[in-house]
Amino acid sequence: MPARFARAMMRLAGSRAAAPAKYLLGRLPVLDRRVRRLYARALDDPPSRRFLARTDGLAVSSSSLTGRFCGAPFRQMDLYEYGQLGVCCITWLPTTVGDLNRESVAEAWNSETARAIRESIFDGSFRYCDHAVCPRIQSGELPTLEEAAKDPELGPYVRGRRVELDAGPTFINLCNDPSCNLRCPSCRAGTIQYTAGPDYERRKRLLDTLVDEVFATPTARAFTLNVTGSGDPFGSRMFREFLFALDGSRFPNLKINLQSNGVLFTPETWRRIAKIHTNLQGVLVSFDAASETTYAVTRPPGRWDVLLENTAHLAERRRAGDFDRLRLDFVVQLDNYTEMPDFVRLGRRLGVDQVSFSLLVDWETWPEATFRDKCIWRGDHPRFADFLDVLRDPLFDDPFVDLGNVTAYRERAVEV
Ligand SMILES: C[S@@+](CC[C@H](N)C(=O)[O-])C[C@H]1O[C@@H](n2cnc3c(N)ncnc32)[C@H](O)[C@@H]1O
Ligand code: SF4
Repeated sequence: MPARFARAMMRLAGSRAAAPAKYLLGRLPVLDRRVRRLYARALDDPPSRRFLARTDGLAVSSSSLTGRFCGAPFRQMDLYEYGQLGVCCITWLPTTVGDLNRESVAEAWNSETARAIRESIFDGSFRYCDHAVCPRIQSGELPTLEEAAKDPELGPYVRGRRVELDAGPTFINLCNDPSCNLRCPSCRAGTIQYTAGPDYERRKRLLDTLVDEVFATPTARAFTLNVTGSGDPFGSRMFREFLFALDGSRFPNLKINLQSNGVLFTPETWRRIAKIHTNLQGVLVSFDAASETTYAVTRPPGRWDVLLENTAHLAERRRAGDFDRLRLDFVVQLDNYTEMPDFVRLGRRLGVDQVSFSLLVDWETWPEATFRDKCIWRGDHPRFADFLDVLRDPLFDDPFVDLGNVTAYRERAVEV
């Protein structure tokens, strides 16, 4: 049955019905992972592949989640490229809850699937989540239900085990445009830039629909916006224009987080987002390296000197109190794992609030054998023992370091 189903899906993928088919991909339950992978390959579509991060061989901290709580599906709404709406990062929770082409954010927010996902948090199964990939599960930081019951915002839902929410999402994550100035091999096989034409218009329509629903009327409602998990806030025409035009004074309780490769986040860009300075809460800048040589491999065609200059400027703005949090990110892979300790030191030198690590997962941008070779975290990798050696460094104990889904490896490293 799965094979027949996969073949039917592949035929569909080659047809003009591909866009709705991509939407369908997000609706398939987690259990059909094998079918979903075949299907995502047939679509030859990088964003769809992210529904299926390949994680076989990942060390998993598998303690029970009974009695634990995750607020993401109670707060978060992500918009993806084909209109899919999710209630967490799609790589961590690969099921979507609606489609902005057919329904509003408000409708999707309490859809049957959204409610089922919330049930799965309360029953402790977390069965829609990819336990191996989710850094919140892997770092063991999820609060207990008792702790969550005291939360001012979600407490009433937790205490009543309620899965239908009265108000809309308080965290909106824009992931509907993968356009970017870089082409990191972990993320894509080549440059992706949509600046005009039907591909641009289709993605822009989705943003317009969301903006109409969420930003048309000034409001004092407290909510957070993240731009972006899919491309770059300034490398994407549509996100850049949206951010330059947004008047934060109409949304006094809106917080904005920017997730960027940092290369275009220059002092001039900083000036151009003046109307949202007071809304800015957090800035994440991805490095994936602690040296120019490695950066050239992990983040082409980014300029290391420009990245350092821009980050130093952002750190200055952070110190001046212009926003609350500056974090630097690092996706661990064969090419950069030896630089992990240097990256912690670099973060300290730059004066940021935190450095964060996560493991490379497969977005199918490389042939399978190349990907396996990049996965330093695989127990059968010829340099796995060296990876554990690197992780033994006591500097990883510093709370300044967020190890996310690398935590289980660090624990193993210090045990042996
Ligand atoms: C897709 S990027 C979008 C935001 C921005 N362009 C950036 O690079 O931070 C979001 C995050 O995904 C990470 N990433 C890229 N490829 C990945 C992979 N194969 N596995 C895990 N994370 C990956 C990036 O390093 C970055 O931290
Ligand atoms: S900078 Fe971010 S979005 Fe751009 S290619 Fe790299 S990981 Fe992907």
